[in-house]
Amino acid sequence: MHPIPFNKPFLTGNESIYINEVISSGRLSGNGKYTHLCQDFFCNTFGFKKCFLTTSCTDALEMAAILIDIKPGDEIILPSYTFVSSANAFILRGAKVVFADSNKLNPNIDTHQIESLITSKTKAIVVVHYAGIACDMELIMNIASAHNLYVIEDAAQAIDSYYIYADGSRKALGSFGHLATFSFHETKNISSGEGGMLVINEDSFIARAETVYEKGTNRAQFLRNEIDKYQWMDVGSSFMPAEIVAAFLWSQLQEIQQIHNHRLFLWNLYYSALENSSIQSDFNLPFIPQYAAHNAHIFYIVCSDLHQRIEISHRLKQSHINSCSHYQSLHNSPFFLAHHPKVSLPYTEKFTNCLLRLPLYHSLQASDIDIIADCIS
Ligand SMILES: Cc1ncc(COP(=O)(O)O)c(C=O)c1O
Repeated sequence: MHPIPFNKPFLTGNESIYINEVISSGRLSGNGKYTHLCQDFFCNTFGFKKCFLTTSCTDALEMAAILIDIKPGDEIILPSYTFVSSANAFILRGAKVVFADSNKLNPNIDTHQIESLITSKTKAIVVVHYAGIACDMELIMNIASAHNLYVIEDAAQAIDSYYIYADGSRKALGSFGHLATFSFHETKNISSGEGGMLVINEDSFIARAETVYEKGTNRAQFLRNEIDKYQWMDVGSSFMPAEIVAAFLWSQLQEIQQIHNHRLFLWNLYYSALENSSIQSDFNLPFIPQYAAHNAHIFYIVCSDLHQRIEISHRLKQSHINSCSHYQSLHNSPFFLAHHPKVSLPYTEKFTNCLLRLPLYHSLQASDIDIIADCIS
């Protein structure tokens, strides 16, 4: 039996052509032709107001924390079931993170818990669309607006995923929050090796974002010939990727429809192949709320307990199939526990213990899915 890795990056074949063009142009630093092509693509395709390519989603989150002016003592509400960067970006600026539990049926933030966590110090709600599956964005935006809070969508996994309204219309994830962040890390549906993007949907952030993005200077205005020299105007840092990274990303974006159609095809094959055994063996398949149209970023199962998850991943490993658990709850992390008392977030802990991600990548074969499903059954 041939080994089945957990992930294999997808290459369109055009990456090296565009990268070579950048090299020959002699214009290697960021904010050039390919950066603008990518940013315009995102604004035009998904209705984002303004986009800044960054070197990672982590960077984009750090930029977001600067833009909402986080000060020591400000509180941020976020799910504990997420990647460390969703919390670290705010901790770095002195914020206190307040963790909400996951939903019972999927790892996204339990929206109904949010209001009970809001205090006079709360500044923002950070939501994570786990596996590209939408959080309840209508409710979240209503809560935020009632309490005058910012919403930041950590859409690291949610490119080309949507929230569906009751009338059937849809809106792209990343277009709801005042700010949103995406990742193009190697493991994401659309990748540039490492990479990310900050989305700004609120006009009032745009001018300052240009400065923060340019290391705290008004260089963007200088490059537009609006001023004769650029100077230090604000805090800022180095968030901009090189054109080579943007050129790689552009080749992937051109194939986004085909990439997602194929991933959804594989995701649906998994779902059908495992439907019966999930009932017999007492594990759950992903729960997709009616309001979510997802991008097949992850296919996961939720085992009945830790023992079953270890057993299934061990059996898969014996057949040379790599599966992976996912986030370790942040509220139980050594860093958080060193400064805070232990709390219990039962659904977060359930997903930490029981969620198992199965291989899902473009070149995965339908016959591989049959083998994996048989092994699990
Ligand atoms: C929810 C979430 N946010 C942020 C990140 C960080 O992304 P990056 O590696 O692009 O910094 C990840 C990484 O996978 C993630 O899963």
